[in-house]
Amino acid sequence: MNDFYNAEMAARQERMALTTDMVRQRSELMKALSPKPGEHILELGTGNGIFARELIHSVGSDGHVIGLDSSDAILEMARHLCPNGEFLLGDAQDLPFEDARFDAIVAAQVFCFLGDVDHALSEAFRVLKPGGRMIILETDWDTLVWHTQNPELMGRMLDAYKAVYADAHLPRTLRQRLVQTGFSRVEIDSFAILNTDFGDDTYAKQTAGFADSIMEGSADFTTEEQSMWLEDQEHLDRIDGFFFSLNRYILSAFM
Ligand SMILES: C[S@@+](CC[C@H](N)C(=O)[O-])C[C@H]1O[C@@H](n2cnc3c(N)ncnc32)[C@H](O)[C@@H]1O
Repeated sequence: MNDFYNAEMAARQERMALTTDMVRQRSELMKALSPKPGEHILELGTGNGIFARELIHSVGSDGHVIGLDSSDAILEMARHLCPNGEFLLGDAQDLPFEDARFDAIVAAQVFCFLGDVDHALSEAFRVLKPGGRMIILETDWDTLVWHTQNPELMGRMLDAYKAVYADAHLPRTLRQRLVQTGFSRVEIDSFAILNTDFGDDTYAKQTAGFADSIMEGSADFTTEEQSMWLEDQEHLDRIDGFFFSLNRYILSAFM
C-alpha cells in the first residue's frame, strides 16, 4: 500500500467523478468508443479506474477490460474503486502485450504526458486487432478562456500549468499523427467544458485546485500571489462574473 491511496482520497475521486462535467466527459468518451458486449478493451492511463468500471459493465462477462497506468499509487486507487477490474503497471510507450490483442483502445488525458507520442501510437496500433479502433480524448490548453481581473498573474499561472504537460497542445497535431501511424480513417469531434460559477461541482474548481498546488510548489509565485489568484476567482463568482471555458477533443481512429 502506498501513501497516495486512502479512504478520504478515494471519496474525493468519487466526488470528482460525479461532477456534471466529468459525467458528461465520460459519456462523450463512451459514445465515441461505443463498446460492444464481448469486446477486449485496453484503457491507457486508466487513472482512478472509474471509466474502466463503466467499461466492464458495457463489455459484459464475455468481454475483457485492462487498465494500464505508469503510477503504482493511482493503480492502488483504481483497484479500490473498481475491485473487479484488471489493472497493470506499465508504460503506454512500451506495451506489454502481444500483437493484435485488443478490439479497441481508449485513452483520456494521457498522451499529453508522453515524451514519445508517435511511438506510443505505433504501440497502440500494433496491439489492436485488424479492424480495431483507438479513441483519444485530449485538451488544447490554448482553448482555455478563464476570466480574470489580473491577466498578468493568470498568464503566469497558466504558463506554469501548461508546463506540467509534455504537450499542452496535442489535439492540433494528433489527427495527422494518427494517419501517419497507419489508421485508415480518423474522425475528430469536440465539446466545451463551460462553467459560469466556481462551485464544487465544476471542472473549473478542480482545475483551480491543481493550479493552487502548482503555485504552492513553485518559487515563481509568492504566497500572497497564490491567495490573490484565488480571491480574484472567488470575487468574480460573487459578482456573477465567473467564466471558464475549455475545449476537449475526441479523436476516433479506425484501422
Ligand atoms: C490526467 S490523468 C487521466 C486519468 C484518466 N484517464 C481520466 O481521464 O480520469 C493521466 C494518467 O496517465 C497516467 N500516465 C502518465 N504517463 C503515463 C505513461 N507513460 N504510461 C501510462 N500511463 C501514464 C498517469 O499516471 C495518470 O493516471
